[in-house]
Amino acid sequence: MTAPNSANIDTLNWVGDIDGHLRMIDQTLLPVEFLRIDLRDVETVWEAIKMLRVRGAPAIGIAAAYGVCVGVQNAVDGSVEGFFSRLNEVADYLASSRPTAVNLFWALERMRKTAELLRNASSPRDIAAALLAEARVIHEEDRRMCRAMGRHGAALLEDGQGVLTHCNAGGLATADYGTALAVFFAAAESGKRLHVYADETRPLLQGARLTAWELQQRGIEVTVICDSMAAQVMREGRIQAVVTGADRIAANGDAANKIGTYGVAVAAAAHDIPFYVAAPSSTFDLSLASGDLIPIEQRDPREITHGFGRQTAPDGVDVYNPAFDVTPARLIKSLICEHGLIEPVTTEEVARVLSLGPEST
Ligand code: MRU
Repeated sequence: MTAPNSANIDTLNWVGDIDGHLRMIDQTLLPVEFLRIDLRDVETVWEAIKMLRVRGAPAIGIAAAYGVCVGVQNAVDGSVEGFFSRLNEVADYLASSRPTAVNLFWALERMRKTAELLRNASSPRDIAAALLAEARVIHEEDRRMCRAMGRHGAALLEDGQGVLTHCNAGGLATADYGTALAVFFAAAESGKRLHVYADETRPLLQGARLTAWELQQRGIEVTVICDSMAAQVMREGRIQAVVTGADRIAANGDAANKIGTYGVAVAAAAHDIPFYVAAPSSTFDLSLASGDLIPIEQRDPREITHGFGRQTAPDGVDVYNPAFDVTPARLIKSLICEHGLIEPVTTEEVARVLSLGPEST
């Protein structure tokens, strides 16, 4: 299959009606191969989330919503009780795939609530149709939130700047435009020329494989650096701003993102470089007072010792592999969400901006 045109990555699609299926780009194959895969049962959707075929907080949420639609297909011709029992089983199962990105739990909760509202008045088939409609709404809302974040964030950047990002917070990680990368795309569309430095992002190289690919697709200048080079690149004066995404933001603005983000924020602070985090309201978890409470995913040590098919550490060596870290709010100049900028990053300002209505987007 051929690569998309530059403006349309479309990382996820639903094909057909309630008896249809989920189609997604298999991100583990990029940048060497661009392949869309079809997912027709909930186990395959779970595996795709766990193995990062689809990854990035918003995209995980959208995939899970469609995963529910796939998962309830075998219960649409039975009783209402049987349908709800299957729905809960499927939602609990999908929730066990990855723990950090709150968008996963947020989307599953929306799906459960949609079904609950129809429990007494509809047939399982009608509820399944409403679930598919809700998944499509979640998908479409994310598209709009990405565009709004792009607009708000682009105003922070100036023509000719060097900017740095970590991991991939682009179209691949969202409905189509990204969070952090949306800021770069919108700035470029408004005529600002940026040079993006993409941390390669150990151990799974989302920066080198995915961010570099996406920026190339959209014709934005990009230079890949090893994670360990970021501080030196800042010291050389090449970076005027850092923008990353997030997987979960606590009520006080502490932000969990791909492992290595915290170190980038510390280095940015040491060089007086503004550090921004772009994330939609679906990534905020106001039930957690601070980032200390965010669950951090621990992943297979083999991602470090045997990455991409080659052994790079001795047999039997101890390995620690947290997939995320937490950047404290005090290191973040602004949070960029679809409602606008959250600055200063405090509990009060997070609550205030998130309570703004959709008309502000
Ligand atoms: O492990 P991943 O690739 O799912 O981690 C993704 C990130 O850390 C992204 O920066 C984050 O989800 C923001 S995506 C818009």
